[in-house]
Amino acid sequence: MRAGIIGIGSFLPDKVMPNSELEKIVDTTNEWIVERTGILNRRIAQAHISSSDLGAEAARLAIKDANLKAEDIDMIISASSSPDCTFPATACIIQDKIRAINAAAFDIQAACTGFVYGLTTAAQFIMTGKYKNVLVVGSEVLSKVTDWQDRNTCILFGDGAGAVVVSQVQKGGITTSFLGADGSGANLLELPAGGTKEPADYDTVKNRRHYIKMNGNEVFKFAVKVFESSTRRVVEKANLTLDDIDLIIPHQANIRIIDAAVRRLKFPIERVMVNLDKYGNMSSASIPVAMHEAVRMGKIKKGDKIILVAFGAGLTWGAVLIEWNL
Ligand code: ACO
Repeated sequence: MRAGIIGIGSFLPDKVMPNSELEKIVDTTNEWIVERTGILNRRIAQAHISSSDLGAEAARLAIKDANLKAEDIDMIISASSSPDCTFPATACIIQDKIRAINAAAFDIQAACTGFVYGLTTAAQFIMTGKYKNVLVVGSEVLSKVTDWQDRNTCILFGDGAGAVVVSQVQKGGITTSFLGADGSGANLLELPAGGTKEPADYDTVKNRRHYIKMNGNEVFKFAVKVFESSTRRVVEKANLTLDDIDLIIPHQANIRIIDAAVRRLKFPIERVMVNLDKYGNMSSASIPVAMHEAVRMGKIKKGDKIILVAFGAGLTWGAVLIEWNL
C-alpha cells in the first residue's frame, strides 16, 4: 500500500513583527538580521494562544482540503518544540478542539525535524493498512519559549502551524524517507529547564533556563552537513537523481544554511522553496507552512517529485521524498 498527502492546511497569527521592532528590544539591526539570516518578519501569537490553537486551525483546513470530516481521522500525530505542556500531548488537545472523536493521538518530539518524523510515522500506519487517515500537525508558539533578552536567538523564531492528512493513494505518494539522530549534540540546542533534569524552581526562572539556548555556529555547520546528506540519501533510496527533483522544501532556519547546502548539492536555488523572510524559523511548522504556500503559488503540481528536508535539536535530521498526489 502507498501513503500520500491528500489534504493540506496552514494557519498563521495575524501579528507581524518586523526586524525594526527587534531593534527596540535588543542590541541588533535590521541589516545584521537580514544579512546573517535572511529573515525580515515573523508572526507572533496573542498571549492567550497556545500551539494547539494554531495546530487545530491548520488541522481543520487540512481535513477540509482532503474532503473529509474530523470523525474520519484515525490518528493525530503532533510535532512541536513549544507544546502546550509536558503532558497531556498537544495531539490530544488538538483532537478535542477539532472533535476528532475516533482518533488516537500522540506527540513526537524531534524539534525542527518533528514534521518529517511525523510524516514518516504516519506513512507506516497507512502502508500497513492499520489506519485510513492520519493527521500530522506541526505547530509552534516559539515566541513564548524565546528569550527576548538574547539577541543570538530572539531574532530567529516565529509562530505558526501547518497540517496534512496522510491516506492511502494509488500512485506516487511518500516514496522514500530517511531519519537520523545524534544525542551527543543535545546540548547544542535545548530548552534546558522544566523537565526532570532541571525541574522548575526559583533559580531556573531567574537564570532564564526556560528559554531556547543555542550554539548557533555549531548548529549551522551541522545543519548544512545533514541537509546535504539526507537529501542525497532519499534520492538514492528512490533510485533517482537530483535532476528528477522538481522542488526541495527545506526547514526554514537561515537563508545561509539553505544557500550553502544547495551549493554543495549543485541544485538550482530556483527549485528550492524559501519563505523564511516572512516567517522566520517556525521549527516543526516551517515545512508544512512552506509546502502549503508552494501549493498555493503553483510551485507544486500533481506528479511533481519534492523533497522535504529538516534538521534540529536532538540533534535530529531527516528527509522525505514525495510524488505529489493533489
Ligand atoms: N545582532 C547583532 N549582532 C549579533 C546578533 C544580533 N542579533 N547576534 C549575534 N551577534 C554578534 C555576535 O555577538 C558576534 O559578535 P562578536 O564577533 O563581537 O562576538 C557576531 O555577531 C557574530 O556572531 P555569530 O554567532 O558568529 O554569527 P553567525 O553568523 O553564526 O550567525 C546565527 C548567528 C544567525 C544564529 C547562525 O549561527 C545560525 O543561523 N545558526 C543556526 C541556527 C539554526 O539553524 N537553528 C536551527 C534549528 S532551531 C531548532 O531546532 C528549534
